[in-house]
Amino acid sequence: MSPSAASRPRVLSGIQPDFGLHLGNYLGALRNWARDQDRYENYFCIVDLHALTRHPDPERLRALTLELAAMYIACGLDPARCEIFVQSHVTAHSQLCWILETLTPMGWLERMTQFKARSEAQGAERVNTGVFTYPVLMAADILLYDADFVPVGEDQRQHIELSRDLAQRLNSQRGDIVRVPAPLISAVGARVMGLDTPEEKMSKSVAVDRPGHAVLLLDPPDVIRRKIARATTDTEPAVHKPVGAGVANLLEIYAALREVSTDGALAEFEGRRYSELKGAVADAVVDAMVPIQARYAELRADDDGLRRVLAQSAARVRLVADATLLRVQEAVGLR
Ligand code: TYM
Repeated sequence: MSPSAASRPRVLSGIQPDFGLHLGNYLGALRNWARDQDRYENYFCIVDLHALTRHPDPERLRALTLELAAMYIACGLDPARCEIFVQSHVTAHSQLCWILETLTPMGWLERMTQFKARSEAQGAERVNTGVFTYPVLMAADILLYDADFVPVGEDQRQHIELSRDLAQRLNSQRGDIVRVPAPLISAVGARVMGLDTPEEKMSKSVAVDRPGHAVLLLDPPDVIRRKIARATTDTEPAVHKPVGAGVANLLEIYAALREVSTDGALAEFEGRRYSELKGAVADAVVDAMVPIQARYAELRADDDGLRRVLAQSAARVRLVADATLLRVQEAVGLR
């Protein structure tokens, strides 16, 4: 990272290498990270420890970790301007997590909507405690780097609130130890909904069983067009106010990709047939994905090069993370 970057506010964010990335991950997170990388000092993590809560096959976890590194760069993150590293390569994440767990009341974690959803789906006897303490590890990711901002989609807001609460708790008990982070959530594209179920958030895990749920960033253009053509709308033939959830989602995707406001997108398509709207959305998605996929293919031709980027970055960020960890260890009496 260039020396001048050090005077800028710092951002940290991460994605789990659990399933293939979809359009929501791009619009809610990656695209914004890439667009704003000159405004911040950038830390982008591949959160493989979080992905372990889904018990992936080891080979698959290794493969998805490298795939995600390539996707970060293919979506525009420049390794010369961004730290791009793997969470488990920096042991301080797990170490700080434990200290923070001792400061976290159970009630805070029981209120987390993602935990509630996964524990209801799996049942208390089956859901692992990693799913429960997941937000504390996320707080460790953020606090270790003294991040000012955490650029994410809307679904992560509650987790970042918890990171703030933990930072404030640590600071109020032990003096000013860590920076209190703030979420950075875009006005447009922060909550992309499922193409097949527009009342439900677009989700990586759902897309595995229901391919029509999400456009994946590596879908070929004909697949992208087909998925968008089949997106759920309603029984109206054309765009009229007030629009239903499916049409609103398509307009939002269009607005985010073409960089217009949602009101502007609505004005552009008002009175036009759904098929026209879907064609325009598909064009916008394909225009965005084609260069990303080309760059991705180039990067995957040199996996050793990707591993080098990750190793060099881990060596640099370890110094930052270890310094914070030591500060916290001293504050709580471990050193
Ligand atoms: P993950 O891997 O589920 O999602 C990665 C990013 O994509 C955003 N996102 C969406 N944005 C818009 N519409 C959607 N439908 C949509 N679905 C997902 C997410 O908000 C996220 O920004 N807990 C995090 C990973 C994490 C993390 C961190 C993030 C671990 N440590 C520290 C920030 C800072 C997660 O599971 O993201």
